[in-house]
Amino acid sequence: MFYPQELIDQVQQNNDIVDVINEYIPLTKKGSNYVCLCPFHQDSNPSLMVSRQKQLFKCFACGEGGNVITFLQKYDSKTFVESVQTLADRAGIKLPENYSGEYSKEKQDHKLRLIECNTEAARFFYAYLRREEGKKGFDYFKKRELSDETMKKFGLGYSDINGNCIAYLKKQGFTDKEILDSGLGTYDERNGLRSKFWNRVMFPIKNQAGKVIGFGGRVLGDGEPKYLNSPETTIFNKSTNLYAFDLAKASRSSYFILCEGYMDVIALHQAGFNMAVASLGTAFTPGQANIIRRYVKDVYLSYDSDGPGVKAAIRAAKICREFNLSCKVIDMSPYKDPDEFIKALGKEEYQKRIDEAKNAFIFEIGILRKQYDPSDPDANTRYDNEVAALLAEMKDEVQRTNYIKACAKEMGISTQALSDMVAKEAGKNRKFNEPERLRSGIHEKKDDPNIKAQQLMLTYLAEYPSIYPQIENIVTPDDFTDETYKEVAVKFFEDVKNGIASPARMVSMFEDEEIQNKVSDMFTSYLNGIEGREEKEAALVDIIFRLKSNSLDEMKNGGKSVDPTLFMKKKKELMEIRSIKIKLPE
Ligand code: GTP
Ligand code: MN
Repeated sequence: MFYPQELIDQVQQNNDIVDVINEYIPLTKKGSNYVCLCPFHQDSNPSLMVSRQKQLFKCFACGEGGNVITFLQKYDSKTFVESVQTLADRAGIKLPENYSGEYSKEKQDHKLRLIECNTEAARFFYAYLRREEGKKGFDYFKKRELSDETMKKFGLGYSDINGNCIAYLKKQGFTDKEILDSGLGTYDERNGLRSKFWNRVMFPIKNQAGKVIGFGGRVLGDGEPKYLNSPETTIFNKSTNLYAFDLAKASRSSYFILCEGYMDVIALHQAGFNMAVASLGTAFTPGQANIIRRYVKDVYLSYDSDGPGVKAAIRAAKICREFNLSCKVIDMSPYKDPDEFIKALGKEEYQKRIDEAKNAFIFEIGILRKQYDPSDPDANTRYDNEVAALLAEMKDEVQRTNYIKACAKEMGISTQALSDMVAKEAGKNRKFNEPERLRSGIHEKKDDPNIKAQQLMLTYLAEYPSIYPQIENIVTPDDFTDETYKEVAVKFFEDVKNGIASPARMVSMFEDEEIQNKVSDMFTSYLNGIEGREEKEAALVDIIFRLKSNSLDEMKNGGKSVDPTLFMKKKKELMEIRSIKIKLPE
């Protein structure tokens, strides 16, 4: 389903971003804008700015930004279509059902087909588990003490020996390409298209919206590989999805339990811990932490108690800390994993272990401690230094200070002594001054003055569209040297000319979240300390000069041969810009 731009415009026009965000987080008026604590990072001062005029939000600390639709996408983990639907409902706008008109986008449709394909396959595996031919799978789950209700809740299934799922999918109208792209089939010349999963019990993996995007398949009994997962596809990104996330989110719990395996998650849910999630056959990723932090602030790690499990837990905890998630480690000993623990000791004992869980960093330095001989003073010094080095890696000052306090107590030394050691360790690598780049890409080129000039130009135009006639013969979209900027400028200039300028609309031109943030940057750029109208007018001339001069440099260095007469003409024009005067509206 894809909606025409006019309809999306209408939905946006009838859902003022200030009112909508205010329903989620109380806004305070500040100047001509509104501010609040940013929900997308651990915010201590209100850093999220919401503009009624531009219909945009922007966090000046973490970089998240967008329009009212993308706000819901980010805040509520909704898809684009779901956000549009929610907002349409809110405004009482009726959307066409199953809309597929001339605006339908091939790419979007293909993705939807892949989700349908995975959903159909899940139905097939689920039904198969309950047939005579699927008894082996059913018995396997029973042997692992899963109730019928649990099997149903997780949509567990079975893929049979003959790989009939391919034939079934074809009968449902899916093309070979769709089956291949969905990750369910593999292709080789001898055998053609075949099922990827053979004789395995199947765990459907859902995205945040609860749609099936892939599978994990386990062998019955022993065999290699134990778990086989769907490959990454355009709908299945292993580093930004979590197993059972849709259920954990719905639990409304104040914390999540993070485990290693599908069976662990299922055993925990069966025991009533319905806030359990797992990564998807790979190690825990920053992308997953980024999703979790939008819902909870506390994570309990329930990893395997063996060596690799402990290592993985320490790595996961570090990622959590970087996202300001408070992280504790649940002790599973003497059992291997939560599944075995619950089977052996039951849910009350597990709850006790949750209550007793140790802060992950204290857990980590406890593991480290065991590697040093406590009776050897040199070993103790090395241990203290190693802890200090770990603390020095924490970039958030408040967090670091609190950890220094807690660790000093644990280590039996004074806070000041540890604090000095940490400062020394940090000095070695000049760590504290590193800019925070939690999410790569967002802040790219942010400090590049040429990019800043391009941002400011668009921000000025968004705030004062009436200046367009004064600049239209001076600045053109071609002066924007970054590809995305140019693409936005072409469209935005045209809209301004037609009197329908809307920054919020520009955001919707792109599907990628990072690019949406980037587009929000283009319209929310400010010069510190520039207040009065005359000051702003002078600044605008500087901005135009910088923009044109950069564009001219690009022309010269761009590799293409430049017509010397044209170049000289442009150069002359550039020199004249300094003397132009642009009037901002009163
Ligand atoms: P059970 O033996 O079924 O209880 O599984 P487990 O959860 O105890 O297994 P384990 O600790 O071995 O694995 C944890 C998770 O790692 C699994 O849920 C899978 O996601 C993943 N995993 C395990 N084995 C493999 C494998 O052979 N290949 C891949 N790609 N992933 C695996
Ligand atoms: Mn297990």
